[in-house]
Amino acid sequence: MNKKEFFFAYTIAHELKSPVITLDGFLKAMIEDYGEKIPAGALEYINYMNQAVKRLKAIINDVLVLSQLSCEEKKEEFPLKDMVKDVILKMSSSIQQKKIKIELLDDLPIIYGNKKQIQLLMLNLISNAVKYIGKENPDPQIQIGTKLINGKQVIFVRDNGIGVDKNYHKKIFDIFQRTPNAKKEAEGTGVGLFIAKTIVEEHKGKIWVESNSQRGCTFFVYIPGKEDGST
Ligand SMILES: Nc1ncnc2c1ncn2[C@@H]1O[C@H](COP(=O)(O)OP(=O)(O)OP(=O)(O)O)[C@@H](O)[C@H]1O
Ligand SMILES: [Mg+2]
Repeated sequence: MNKKEFFFAYTIAHELKSPVITLDGFLKAMIEDYGEKIPAGALEYINYMNQAVKRLKAIINDVLVLSQLSCEEKKEEFPLKDMVKDVILKMSSSIQQKKIKIELLDDLPIIYGNKKQIQLLMLNLISNAVKYIGKENPDPQIQIGTKLINGKQVIFVRDNGIGVDKNYHKKIFDIFQRTPNAKKEAEGTGVGLFIAKTIVEEHKGKIWVESNSQRGCTFFVYIPGKEDGST
């Protein structure tokens, strides 16, 4: 996305906010004021409307986050390990709830990038790993580490969850794209990996997924270092 497209996305999302808030407010007021008089069938419709409004709010929020990405251009060097620890801490309640064993494998590298964006990138990858770990997974595990690929240190986030079908390995990085098994598993807007890809591209890096079996997948991220001169 170029600057003009980012601005366009921001303007539209921002304009949509107010009518959605109005819808949300009046749906709530309707239930509060007339709840007892509303027949059960109509309440069911209202429930569907509430779910749609919730989804609209999530999409607007994600598009707003996305549209503000290119404004954050300040880059610095920082240790990825501390950042990943923070992200894991933020998600500790769902990690514990799902009884996930989460491991930081190697010493994660020093990253040259925009801190806020890299944090959002790691949050998206780790939250996906948690979200799609699988309800019936007997031994849920997530590993975060690095691997040397063609002489370059690449970060990975690996899980043993529901995995990604081969036909979707490219598609899931496009906006609003979700796999059928993910739709059955949990709610989502399909914006997270598009945000992740946009961030990686802003850093002149690469992101891809590997998933060979039914059990789990690995997301790889390469971010060039300061000395690579390509940032
Ligand atoms: N770790 C994972 N395991 C299995 N499928 C995944 C994983 N990460 C991403 N996916 C697939 O890629 C799709 C896109 O991911 P993305 O993060 O963009 O959207 P989401 O998680 O569905 O919604 P949100 O915008 O709330 O993050 C997911 O819907 C899912 O199909
Ligand atoms: Mg996601």
